[in-house]
Amino acid sequence: MRIFTGSSNPKLAEDICRKLGEQLGDVTLSRFKSGEIYVNYEESIRNCDVFIVQSLSHPINEMFVELLVMIDAAKRASARTVNIIIPYYGYARQERKSAPREPISAKMVADVLTTVGANRVITMDLHAPAIQGFFNIPVDHLTALDLISEYLRSKNISNPVIVSPDAGRASMAEKLANHLDSPFAIMIKKRPSHNESVITHVIGDVEGRTPIIIEDIIDTGTTIINVVEGLKERGAKDVYVCATHGLFSGSALERLNHPNIKEVVITDSILLPDDHVGRVKVLSVAP
Ligand code: R5P
Repeated sequence: MRIFTGSSNPKLAEDICRKLGEQLGDVTLSRFKSGEIYVNYEESIRNCDVFIVQSLSHPINEMFVELLVMIDAAKRASARTVNIIIPYYGYARQERKSAPREPISAKMVADVLTTVGANRVITMDLHAPAIQGFFNIPVDHLTALDLISEYLRSKNISNPVIVSPDAGRASMAEKLANHLDSPFAIMIKKRPSHNESVITHVIGDVEGRTPIIIEDIIDTGTTIINVVEGLKERGAKDVYVCATHGLFSGSALERLNHPNIKEVVITDSILLPDDHVGRVKVLSVAP
């Protein structure tokens, strides 16, 4: 087995290697003046089971193409299998057509990865678990819920309620509620446009409780802020926010610096930029 990393999250790849007692493989990743991507494995990988760690995160299109070029180079270097570890699977939110003439980008990503030569995918907390079925190769769909619940348990939060920000996260919230032996509530939202959401009502009892919001992705942070304000209006206490994938696009972190948010907890599925370190609690999924 040899483990290599793309450019998106080398720190996670190093931490995975440390856990496994393996040395990270040597690969050159560079760019031509034109922006085209060049990859060269600096060691023989003939007959090896190659694992490539690459999150499909900022800049997503660049990281996606880099992964494709890495898979292609590994195949052509006679790797026995090419296994891709995609802690954060970008484009997962376009997993179905919600309007005529739209793409199903999550399926397109799966098709391209498979066509180029991936033999197995290891990923985590997919926006829609059904994306596993978009692949005709094995997909290991891991979750960070155990890690998050272990952390929350250590905080001894009194009178908690697990909150799903929308109907799509209800099953995740239910699992976390089971882990923590807590009640759960579901916020019902509507999306007037792609980066806008409005809470219309809440199913469950939140008054006087400490909400723990569980999300798959924090992108711009607007959904979370709407949920926090919706919870406050309904008499809830200050809130913990947990998510597997912290994309933090634009000024998301400034937005999340909200007086009613006690703590934001995410994992290292996406590398946090240096200026974001220390502003959120990061749990490592390397184990
Ligand atoms: C969408 O349904 C996802 O589960 C998240 O709620 C969404 O991606 C969060 O995006 P934002 O942080 O931009 O509101």
